[in-house]
Amino acid sequence: QQPVATSVEPSNMNSGVKVLAESTDLKSIPSEFSFVNEPTGSNSDSIPIIDFSLLTSGNPDQRSKVIQELGKACEEWGFFVLVNHGIQETLMKATIDRSLEFFDLPEEEKRKYESKHVSDPIKYGRGSVITTSDKKIFLWRDFIKSYVHPEFHCPDKPQNFREIIFEYAERSRFVARTLLQGISENLGLEEGFIEEALKLDSMFQLFAANYYPPCPQPDQAIGLPPHTDHGLLTFLIHNEVAGLQIQHNGKWFNTNSPQNSILVNTADQLEIFSNGRYKSVKHRAVVNNQSTRISVVIPNGPAPDAIVGPASPLVQRDGRPLYRPLKYIDYVETQLGNPVDGKVNLDYAK
Ligand code: SIN
Ligand code: FE2
Repeated sequence: QQPVATSVEPSNMNSGVKVLAESTDLKSIPSEFSFVNEPTGSNSDSIPIIDFSLLTSGNPDQRSKVIQELGKACEEWGFFVLVNHGIQETLMKATIDRSLEFFDLPEEEKRKYESKHVSDPIKYGRGSVITTSDKKIFLWRDFIKSYVHPEFHCPDKPQNFREIIFEYAERSRFVARTLLQGISENLGLEEGFIEEALKLDSMFQLFAANYYPPCPQPDQAIGLPPHTDHGLLTFLIHNEVAGLQIQHNGKWFNTNSPQNSILVNTADQLEIFSNGRYKSVKHRAVVNNQSTRISVVIPNGPAPDAIVGPASPLVQRDGRPLYRPLKYIDYVETQLGNPVDGKVNLDYAK
């Protein structure tokens, strides 16, 4: 889902950016964190909003209208704001609150989850570094990630973390699968086509919480550099602090999220499956000097062993496949090249 990230200890930091940011009188960022940002674009009123309840209301006219809107959002933006999704506000709030509490645990507790192997199902990263072909980039972010489906993993602390994340992930799967039914129809396929072809019963789903403390020089650092996600649809919620930006027509746009909405972006496997009709959107997380931002991200993907290529009815229609089929888990594990410039993984599938 995200660029290759490992934990390191820059010369003057041994406990992640949370502790670094909390150290008194931090006026500037350590030089390891310097990152040249493309300029921030503007706000956009035209970011699509999708009303989920119209997909499930049983009114065929409303349903076909929202399916059209959904298709248009995936084609033109690769991004939409989902409202009326039916996931309870209290559950969303608990998801954010428990995640924040995780970062407040003592360092030794969090460090139990520092990853030793790429395939560790739970990973804690502090002050993560991204390694590209010619440089290292230190990110203004600590994170916790775990595999939540088909196998469920989650840290035991804080209290109730497991239960809350389990439920939020389960509810998210229902919403993701319902959206993917609408998307199948929009592509001119049977409603259950994606479900079956990509074996969504055992869909690969992750939970990730990103912690971005206030940064004294926000323009010169980055939370997460531009990248696309691996899966089909990624869901993002956050506390009231904005920071997710998406690229549209070559410019960076701030996203905003009405209360209780979910920010959804289309990811690489959907671009591949749709034979390029939908775009996997480039996005990044910027930081600020005022408040801590926390985001909870749920990437929803095909089953780990699903072979994903352009859907054959679409290939027939388009005349040729634009991507080659790859097993999803191999795609995820093939962390390639320079993530700072976007779509390297997708190029690999070409
Ligand atoms: C992500 O791309 O996974 C996270 C972006 C964010 O925190 O806004
Ligand atoms: Fe992402």
